[in-house]
Amino acid sequence: MIRSIHRTLFISKRYASSGRAIVYSSYGNPIETVKLIRYEVPEPANDQVQVKLLAAPINPADINQIEGVYPSRPEMTTDELGSSEPVAVGGNEGVFQVVKVGKDVTGIKPGDWTIPLGSNLGTWRTVGNFAADALIAIDPFGLSKVQAATVSVNPTTAFMMLSQFVKLQAGDWFIQNAGNSGVGRAAIQLGRLWGLNSISVVRDRPDIEELTKELADLGATHVMTESQLSNRSQAAAIKQWTAGVPVRLGFNGVGGPSSTNIARQLANGGHLVTYGGMSKQPVTFPTSLFIFKNITAHGFWLSRHIEQHAGEKEAAVQAILKLYRSGQFTATRVIEHIIEDGQITDEQFEGAFKRALKGYFEGGKHLIVVG
Ligand SMILES: NC(=O)c1ccc[n+]([C@@H]2O[C@H](COP(=O)([O-])OP(=O)(O)OC[C@H]3O[C@@H](n4cnc5c(N)ncnc54)[C@H](OP(=O)(O)O)[C@@H]3O)[C@@H](O)[C@H]2O)c1
Repeated sequence: MIRSIHRTLFISKRYASSGRAIVYSSYGNPIETVKLIRYEVPEPANDQVQVKLLAAPINPADINQIEGVYPSRPEMTTDELGSSEPVAVGGNEGVFQVVKVGKDVTGIKPGDWTIPLGSNLGTWRTVGNFAADALIAIDPFGLSKVQAATVSVNPTTAFMMLSQFVKLQAGDWFIQNAGNSGVGRAAIQLGRLWGLNSISVVRDRPDIEELTKELADLGATHVMTESQLSNRSQAAAIKQWTAGVPVRLGFNGVGGPSSTNIARQLANGGHLVTYGGMSKQPVTFPTSLFIFKNITAHGFWLSRHIEQHAGEKEAAVQAILKLYRSGQFTATRVIEHIIEDGQITDEQFEGAFKRALKGYFEGGKHLIVVG
């Protein structure tokens, strides 16, 4: 009896194709920790969609997950890819093309592009079967793979932070550090489109004029360096720029002294929203900011926000894609690691990720692009 059940299962499990994934089975330094594994991909179940990778970025959260220091992490399992040891697939963001759909799936068809709805999907894989309701279908018309692969985290975060903490109106100001990051660049552009003025703080660097021009071209009203911000006399310059309009909203993606300096520029009753900690230093506030200026400090985490407000991500994504198609919004600066479509070899796939992980914060956001 048992034997015949086994045979039935074996016969019914047809493998549609084989895939390659970048996985980790322990936590540590990403480049030393990730490895490639191959797996077989069965036909999609009735409620699943089979997709192939078009492009996936390396985001700071992906790195932190592999390091084991991110609060939300995919479970390591042998079930998902049939591996001999428990593994988790890297990557939370990316764009896939639909290859086939299960018979109960509606609203997504072969050829469509899809992006993850939530976190921990494991996007660093060539092909996979995912539940249709874990994906957002997007119309590829007028979009590049880079735009689609990077829309769901950074621009969406900027979109939500700019609209949800303070009701800003045209002519209002906000200030942010990490002005050159994916989130920072998206906030600058949305600010421009929504009539908001922005002060973007970036790390000191030799080519500061070049970066200042680049961010100004995106719509930054003013760009300043961390060392300028830390100079107390800069407050007078900021007052002059804003002509007395209170700066009521600040974004902090860095932590440490940078976040303190951003908070100091806020007006009475202002709000500081911390969304990242690139310096790995704590956020500290002078007591006087709380008592005498009544500053409110918030945290924003897209993953939590989506869990609590399910429909908002798709609405924000579709709004941003519309801006991409109209040419009013550009993707963050990226370094593409291109793999030719067709028969992707182990060496090509693993090599592209290893190169991307080696320099993951240098020169822009690193992305694996297929085709
Ligand atoms: N809370 C959320 O929901 C959410 C969503 C998206 C992102 N994030 C977080 O936001 C932060 C930025 O992410 P991203 O994807 O926008 O970044 P990104 O495009 O990959 O760029 C990284 C940025 O971090 C800066 N940076 C790197 N090391 C730094 C350090 N030691 N001190 C200060 N700045 C440093 C870089 O500055 P340079 O330009 O000078 O190289 C660059 O601007 C990360 O902490 C990420 O986890 C949070």
